Amino acid sequence: MGAKNGAIKLVAGNSNRALSEAIGAYLAVPLCKAVVRRFADMEIFVEIQENVRGSDVFVLQSTSFPANDHLMELLIIIDALRRASARRITAVVPYFGYARQDRKPAARTPISAKLVANLITHAGADRVMTVDLHAGQIQGFFDIPTDNLYASPVMVRDIRERFDLAKVMVVSPDVGGVVRARGLAKRINAPLAIIDKRRERAGESEVMNVIGDVEGHTCILVDDIVDSGGTLVNAADALLEKGATEVYAYISHGVLSGGAVARITASRLKELVITDSIQPTEAVRVARNIRVLSIATLIGEAIGRTATEESVSSLFD
Ligand code: R5P
Repeated sequence: MGAKNGAIKLVAGNSNRALSEAIGAYLAVPLCKAVVRRFADMEIFVEIQENVRGSDVFVLQSTSFPANDHLMELLIIIDALRRASARRITAVVPYFGYARQDRKPAARTPISAKLVANLITHAGADRVMTVDLHAGQIQGFFDIPTDNLYASPVMVRDIRERFDLAKVMVVSPDVGGVVRARGLAKRINAPLAIIDKRRERAGESEVMNVIGDVEGHTCILVDDIVDSGGTLVNAADALLEKGATEVYAYISHGVLSGGAVARITASRLKELVITDSIQPTEAVRVARNIRVLSIATLIGEAIGRTATEESVSSLFD
């Protein structure tokens, strides 16, 4: 695929090579020859080994674990491209790390999501493309065009294929996720329930109250992030206690840190479905009740449309 005013180039960081290659395959554009490696003291070194002068360059990098290394790689790649006279640089960040630090929860705490947005902008990005931002208003942390894509079309297709929609109830695992869950419920014409979750201490989660009658329903929990898995496991227990027949979860970003995979595997969750915005580990790949949907086509299509100046939002109509 060629752009209007110059060739598309795709430059991949090390965070998710498989997704980058799948995006390249969709666009029929091979990944740009580039070296992203470490000096002995672990400093990151980048060398773009193709001419990118005048090109429309898309840098593919999730700022997933190890978040700081992957963020630094992204910034250094952008710097290298800017100094190599790329015409336009789009940071494609399928999973935008630090997004949960989007406000001051207490005095003298940072807003790290804003800091990361500043870093990406000052490194030289002209645009940003990401998927299911933790909070939509993070878009406003950037003073450059930012496309927040939604994984929901990919999830909705899967849900339609696998479930009897007459029995499905979509559930938001916390009050903060209601808008996201309601959006998906609307697309499949399903009712919505909400879990009133109270988190007593950071890192712990506690399910308190199911708002809505879930009895006899197949419940589908919808959220942006599964990290420790605590929220989902507790939510599944609460829903089953209230008479749900089965509980599934569709979550955009499988952060799955620490013992999360073991926790999910041992839980009463029938299946956790995540996307490949974060490269699945071997443990995720072999887990009995975790499945990965690819968003390569979605991102590839959005990149193609950006390059040819077509509508991206119409992908979600
Ligand atoms: C929180 O606001 C997010 O949307 C997720 O609910 C949360 O990050 C999940 O975390 P965990 O899996 O550790 O309970």
